[in-house]
Amino acid sequence: MKNGIVEAVIASNRRIAEDVLRMELIYKDAALAAPGQFINIYLREKNLLLPRPISVCDAADGALTLVYGVVGAGTRAMADYAPGSVLRVGAPCGNGFNVSDARGFGRVTLIGGGIGVPPLLMLAKALKTETDASVRAVLGFKSETFLADEFRTCCDETLIATEDGSEGFHGNVLELLKEENLNPGGDYFYSCGPLMMLRALSRFAGGQGIPLQVSLEARMGCGYGACKACICVVGSRQSEGLAAETATVNKRICVDGPVFFGNEVIWDV
Ligand SMILES: Cc1cc2nc3c(=O)[nH]c(=O)nc-3n(C[C@H](O)[C@H](O)[C@H](O)COP(=O)(O)OP(=O)(O)OC[C@H]3O[C@@H](n4cnc5c(N)ncnc54)[C@H](O)[C@@H]3O)c2cc1C
Ligand code: FES
Repeated sequence: MKNGIVEAVIASNRRIAEDVLRMELIYKDAALAAPGQFINIYLREKNLLLPRPISVCDAADGALTLVYGVVGAGTRAMADYAPGSVLRVGAPCGNGFNVSDARGFGRVTLIGGGIGVPPLLMLAKALKTETDASVRAVLGFKSETFLADEFRTCCDETLIATEDGSEGFHGNVLELLKEENLNPGGDYFYSCGPLMMLRALSRFAGGQGIPLQVSLEARMGCGYGACKACICVVGSRQSEGLAAETATVNKRICVDGPVFFGNEVIWDV
């Protein structure tokens, strides 16, 4: 049932890094979830009415994996939910990553920042099965890493950057990418992470002529298109040869996104 609210059983909910948890949900329609989509989690606490959107990290055999950071009251409450208990979820939502667009490219690079890393795992698996491209993950963290082994298992190459230099490259993902030997003719980028990172990456990819899809985040209200709390501004894709000054439109991240092409997003609004 698309975007309908259903009950899912929590199979596990455990810490995988400081303030980062991995939740496995038994969810019968898991196979319908596509990379880059998210689910709305309806919390049990009566004072926390709005759903919390969390990206699908992986989906298989009637189970969904979510990886979430504890940042406020809602995610703090989620961290205490016990395995075996029931959760109301609205899933799967939004337009995820377009996998077929990367067909014909020699190498695909997935660039993740912090809690933006999880949805790229399901994408990596889809790219491996649905394209012939070699898949490279470039993952950035402040300090402690998570999911790195899962990416190593399914990607051809996994590079880690940490801001404090505790693992891998000392710096951010963009600095790491610039150090790497890029192959602009054959590369395709997908990314999810903080807005500043996505903005800088979009400029970088645009300058190199590399196609880029980004998963955007915004504070959400309803989570299903009704309240317009989650607007971003989008213009025409410059790759389609349309004039840059073509009229812009407001898009709702929850239903029109969360994934957009980097060169259609108006970053400085
Ligand atoms: C499409 C999408 C996918 C996401 N995927 C993930 C994920 O995989 N893992 C993860 O850890 N986080 C993800 N987030 C962010 C996550 O939704 C917020 O961290 C979470 O809603 C915070 O809730 P809170 O009650 O703990 O925080 P509070 O700050 O107390 O939340 C207050 C209100 O603001 C909303 N809100 C606060 N921050 C955000 C935010 N960044 N995005 C949207 N709504 C917000 C909350 O839903 C709530 O209604 C995603 C957000 C979006 C939009
Ligand atoms: S959150 Fe309500 S329209 Fe997107």
